[in-house]
Amino acid sequence: MEVKSVIGTRRSIRFFEPWREVEREKIQAILEATYRAPRMLETDFLRIVVMYRDRLSEEELATLQTPTTTAQLDMAPVVLIFYAESEAFEASKLEANHQALMDLGVLNPSHGWTKERYASSVGPYLQGLADDADRVPISFGRDAGGPTVSREVMRLARTAIGVAQTFALLAAVDEGLSAQLSAINTTTVKAMMGIPDSWIPSSPMLLGYHGESRAAGGQRPREAFEEDFFELRYGHPFYREPAVVEHLRECDMIQPGAPFPWRMTEVRALARKFGLPD
Ligand SMILES: Cc1cc2nc3c(=O)[nH]c(=O)nc-3n(C[C@H](O)[C@H](O)[C@H](O)COP(=O)(O)O)c2cc1C
Repeated sequence: MEVKSVIGTRRSIRFFEPWREVEREKIQAILEATYRAPRMLETDFLRIVVMYRDRLSEEELATLQTPTTTAQLDMAPVVLIFYAESEAFEASKLEANHQALMDLGVLNPSHGWTKERYASSVGPYLQGLADDADRVPISFGRDAGGPTVSREVMRLARTAIGVAQTFALLAAVDEGLSAQLSAINTTTVKAMMGIPDSWIPSSPMLLGYHGESRAAGGQRPREAFEEDFFELRYGHPFYREPAVVEHLRECDMIQPGAPFPWRMTEVRALARKFGLPD
């Protein structure tokens, strides 16, 4: 698919075909995409555990649900669980990764990247981020009280996960699959899957073949473009050129918005089809 069309076609899908397995090669293609996402401060934060719904008992599945992740977790055959390894932000690893990029001509003296400057400036700066006294627990809720990281490393780690999740979502659509970033009971997952204490949890991606129409009632609403994008200064909206909007419509990035007139009928029919409340 063309990338504009992938972006436009993506929806948070909440009805999956529960009986249809996801081909292993498609899962790998998604992992390969995340592997190529940009890397925050050359830190290998990303960790993903692939979970298969059919390997879990009904009770296990039920304990993974949260108030905002309900039936979709029962329906999605695969869940990618995203983490950031906090120990990846460690001086010798960061130095080795930066040095490798200097050797490859990616980080160059033209931009201040030399061994000497790394030792005198970049290295101590990164160490300062790791050592900052303003610390937060790696796990929240019931797991809080375990190891901590600096608030800044937590921010970097979560950004890294967000970037990877974006790659995963778009790769999934490109593979003809559908997905939803959602919530999960991270405490249960941690115990169930032997997740190390140093891994920072995040939102999982539910994955499968769409059980609702792929358009899923149309593109979902956002607040006005002008409220979010600015030029030169805050308060001066970025001018939204109608011809560009039209071009993006033709490329499928901008698709008809929700609700389609038949959406509620579709939702009721889906509920009956999948034995869910309507
Ligand atoms: C990190 C993240 C977590 C999310 N968690 C949930 C969730 O727990 N339950 C849910 O129904 N949707 C969840 N969503 C999906 C949003 O609700 C969805 O993106 C929003 O409704 C807009 O729809 P769209 O993604 O189809 O454009 C999450 C989205 C993101 C980015």
